Amino acid sequence: MQAGLQERSAVVTGAANGIGRSIVTHFLEAGARVTAFDIEAGALEKLAQELGHPADLALATGDVRSRASVKSAIDTACERFGSLDIMVANAGIAVGQHFLEIDDETWTRILETNLNGAFYCIQEAARVMVPAGKGSIVVTSSTNAFYVESTLAHYNASKGGIDALIRSAALELAATGVRVNGVAPSMVRTRAAFVTAESDTSSSYLERVPMGRLAEPSEVANAVEFLASDRSSFCTGQVLVLDGGTTLGIMLPESEV
Ligand SMILES: NC(=O)c1ccc[n+]([C@@H]2O[C@H](COP(=O)([O-])OP(=O)(O)OC[C@H]3O[C@@H](n4cnc5c(N)ncnc54)[C@H](O)[C@@H]3O)[C@@H](O)[C@H]2O)c1
Repeated sequence: MQAGLQERSAVVTGAANGIGRSIVTHFLEAGARVTAFDIEAGALEKLAQELGHPADLALATGDVRSRASVKSAIDTACERFGSLDIMVANAGIAVGQHFLEIDDETWTRILETNLNGAFYCIQEAARVMVPAGKGSIVVTSSTNAFYVESTLAHYNASKGGIDALIRSAALELAATGVRVNGVAPSMVRTRAAFVTAESDTSSSYLERVPMGRLAEPSEVANAVEFLASDRSSFCTGQVLVLDGGTTLGIMLPESEV
């Protein structure tokens, strides 16, 4: 059993910003060979530049809404690094809209990116991993899967679907040596958090986080690294919640105790 990710070949989607970017840097530091996949070609180039164009980093520009695009990133990983050992399906988007105002175009875009994208990543990765008899797939879910937020019905539904998809794939793949798990952060300090948050949400939101702060992208990357590695070798179908205590229960204010 290997503790780190030495020479493991990983595809990370949504790799150019936020959580994905942190996963890429953690994985490279842990010895992995990473194919960074993102829809933003310029941001991927910038990432490679900032990391000093390491030999263990390959770039794949594409869209997780396209199965062909996902397959092409996996092909890049296999051709460049000889295998696919880890898939991190992390790309995701959110748009704030009141429930009655959600339009079909936005609903479809969010479901196609978050849920269809995760499906393509899990299935295409598994098609390569199952014949090899090993592999670890990690999906970025969210506490929104079970602790829903207003104005995000499409996002909440996509993440609820992801949790069911993780369990479904894990169950059917368990005997093959391929594990499927997820991480469910509450709000993380990335640009996406601030696109969906109303301008004053941050302070009122923080009052509802028992630890009193947002998660850092690196805290999510640490959990992804654990689930991707052999350290979690008997763990499959699980979604690790990273929420500073937010979804545990209700903290009464001191004045009401
Ligand atoms: N930020 C949070 O508060 C938070 C909380 C819980 C879960 N998440 C989840 O974490 C994941 C990453 O979010 P983030 O906060 O790092 O966001 P981010 O916007 O900082 O980064 C997301 C990345 O995904 C890429 N992307 C978007 N659509 C894509 C597509 N169709 N194909 C390929 N790449 C695409 C973007 O270009 C971007 O680089 C998402 O799944 C998100 O739902 C975020």
